[in-house]
Amino acid sequence: MTPDLLKQGAQRVAQRIEKVSTQTESGGRDASYGRIYTPGEVDVSHGRILYLEDVSVSFDGFKAINKLSLDIAPGELRCIIGPNGAGKTTMMDIITGKTRPDEGQVFFGSTIDLLRHNEPEIAQLGIGRKFQKPTVFEQLTVFENLELALKTPKGVKASMFFKLDSAQSDRLAEVLHTIHLADSVLTQAGNLSHGQKQWLEIGMLLMQDPKLLLLDEPVAGMTDHETERTAELFLSLKGKHSLMVVEHDMGFIKTISDIVTVLCDGSVLAQGTLDQVQANERVIEVYLGR
Ligand SMILES: Nc1ncnc2c1ncn2[C@@H]1O[C@H](COP(=O)(O)OP(=O)(O)OP(=O)(O)O)[C@@H](O)[C@H]1O
Ligand SMILES: [Mg+2]
Repeated sequence: MTPDLLKQGAQRVAQRIEKVSTQTESGGRDASYGRIYTPGEVDVSHGRILYLEDVSVSFDGFKAINKLSLDIAPGELRCIIGPNGAGKTTMMDIITGKTRPDEGQVFFGSTIDLLRHNEPEIAQLGIGRKFQKPTVFEQLTVFENLELALKTPKGVKASMFFKLDSAQSDRLAEVLHTIHLADSVLTQAGNLSHGQKQWLEIGMLLMQDPKLLLLDEPVAGMTDHETERTAELFLSLKGKHSLMVVEHDMGFIKTISDIVTVLCDGSVLAQGTLDQVQANERVIEVYLGR
């Protein structure tokens, strides 16, 4: 990435912070902005935790992602909307190393080139991903699922003798509370509701303390009450983590969003507050309808 690109990106983010600072109480967006970078951390001193520029990928000649550029500030909760087939999931596949783009740049902070890393390495770097379908271990309790999320793949023996240290126990207690499952700690995951399973899976990601969380249609299939609790959960994560949330549920987006990015045909069609993008003629045409 050239210094010019970095500068332009930082300016864009700075402008955006100014623009939205009246809309967000939590200050999540500003939380880490301008922090001094220490080696070993993701370098967010330029005001971005994630940076995509001119990313394209084709499948059998079809451009699923087409010169896509976007960036996300540390602590930000960014919502992504757009019609089916817009490329939202494919974008997450690219960020997490599941799909290699044909061209473009993908940076985590300003120094980590994600295209040089594979899927497990990217997870290790601090990017957690939640797929639509919950993938918890149904036979295990809530506690055991969360505990398991900390285990590193060092073989059966290491796993058998794995014991939480006190910091990990504290973390587990904190995560249980965050995901609203403190009262269900000994419940078998298979007996949880769909929404609770989703929260448990988010909890499993949180055990790893990810810097960036990618969530693909997290409230699909949830009851209204579960959707409301999920909105609370995401708002509580904002600032501590950066989040990218793909959703079609506009009520949910309305509750949680600061900046909304509209994807269409593999690139950004519009970006702004929900009110701004909802008033955009092209967005109305391709996605929201009249
Ligand atoms: N591995 C693949 N091989 C071939 N085509 C693919 C592949 N992955 C995605 N596509 C195509 O790329 C386009 C974008 O798909 P993607 O799943 O990213 O859309 P989306 O925005 O997530 O849609 P939805 O809202 O329905 O989840 C679609 O036309 C899809 O069929
Ligand atoms: Mg999708």
